[in-house]
Amino acid sequence: MTNDYVWQEDMKTSSDAKTTTVGTIDDEILAFTAGKDLVLDLQLAESDCIGSAAHAIMLSKMPVNPPVLTTEEAAAVCKELGTIRKSVLERAFVIEAADQDVHLTVERKLTEALGDLGKKIHTGRSRNDQVAVDLRLFAKQALLELIEDSADLAEALTRFGETHQKVPMVGRTHMQPAMPSSVGLWATSYAEAVLEDIQSLRLVYELNDQCPLGAAAGYGVPLPIDRQLTSDLLGFARPLHNVAHAIQARGKLEYQILQAMGQLMITLSRVAQDLMLFTLPEFGYFTIPKVFGTGSSIMPNKNNPDVLELIRSKAGLVLGYGSAVGHILHAAPGGYNRDLQDSKEPFLEGLATTRASVRILARCVAGLTVNEDKLRGAFDGGVFATDAALALVAAGMPFRDAYHQVKANLADLDNEDPDAAIARKTHLGGTAGLHFGLYADRIASTRGFVEKGRTHFDHAVRRLLS
Ligand code: ARG
Repeated sequence: MTNDYVWQEDMKTSSDAKTTTVGTIDDEILAFTAGKDLVLDLQLAESDCIGSAAHAIMLSKMPVNPPVLTTEEAAAVCKELGTIRKSVLERAFVIEAADQDVHLTVERKLTEALGDLGKKIHTGRSRNDQVAVDLRLFAKQALLELIEDSADLAEALTRFGETHQKVPMVGRTHMQPAMPSSVGLWATSYAEAVLEDIQSLRLVYELNDQCPLGAAAGYGVPLPIDRQLTSDLLGFARPLHNVAHAIQARGKLEYQILQAMGQLMITLSRVAQDLMLFTLPEFGYFTIPKVFGTGSSIMPNKNNPDVLELIRSKAGLVLGYGSAVGHILHAAPGGYNRDLQDSKEPFLEGLATTRASVRILARCVAGLTVNEDKLRGAFDGGVFATDAALALVAAGMPFRDAYHQVKANLADLDNEDPDAAIARKTHLGGTAGLHFGLYADRIASTRGFVEKGRTHFDHAVRRLLS
């Protein structure tokens, strides 16, 4: 992260000013208002080229005489946008302070290369709908990647659970030993949570999959633009309908996506927390692969679970990013307000942080080893107490009487067999009633969803910027 947004000593007086595409702006004010866009917008640059190409093609089909852009001119604009996109991918694309943001950089570059054609690209659009469409195009790809990585995590948890489905593990409430459980039940409880979090991500994916372009500043334009066409060209499911909503949905959408990611991060953090506990020497149930630990600079004996600790803190960060966006938004009146620009950083950070966390936890889970002796050794008689009471119930005793009888004779349970105990819970979703295929099916359908979305998007982009 650069310090571009911070006031610098050499911006001495307010008479220092920069000539920008949209007028002259005092240096310090420019630095403050552009903020981190000079850096953050690099992430949106590819999307800006894609969105601009669709807009150019739509302009060339607009029924006005003379046309704003001819078919050939639109093709020239798209070709140049392809060149700019290439420079983005090669990391040669730079947003100058005088550009303020990526949108004016792309317009400047088009104008430098194509003269008047570049000056026409902004016909019938505003940076307000432009940034909104850039963010949605970016988020679409990021969400597909995140959903795919989350499916990998669900799969790693399911595999781990299936492999060790018959290994007994003490089930806990209040962290205290409670009832017989299994490694299979523990692992797939989190696989199922991740799959539900994926459902939330798919829901926000659908919300994101709507095109704001053509809303312009938020009030449309007195030109016969074809918003359906732009939306189709970009591979969106549909245009957002109301043009004011198309602009005001910015920030709200980011908040929803951050909330969905917050759900996932809560799940991740709880897995991490469990693993930190169950890999303590005092427990020793599981062992984390050595590469996931880091040493200490002073204590030669250390191998700390830093990755897991950081997943826990990153959950806090992502929840905080969501909260930041909610706070930015709740007081903003209708219409575009520059406040919205500040939702960009928490949003982009949230996407990157969540994805990195999901990926590394999936690797960690895939590499876990199980120490069966430790898991079995953790059972004491008390863990079987509820099962014993229910056995008396099955033989006809009222539950409360059975409860008291077992409670008075807990020492009798010291030789119970954990393997037999977990084999007895054969009902749906119990230790011996887990259907791993259910998870496999949901993981496969998630992968199908990602594949379909990605193919559709890549196809649209290839048509625009071949
Ligand atoms: N960089 C700006 C943002 O992220 C682009 C939109 C600027 N629009 C405006 N009316 N100043 O919000």
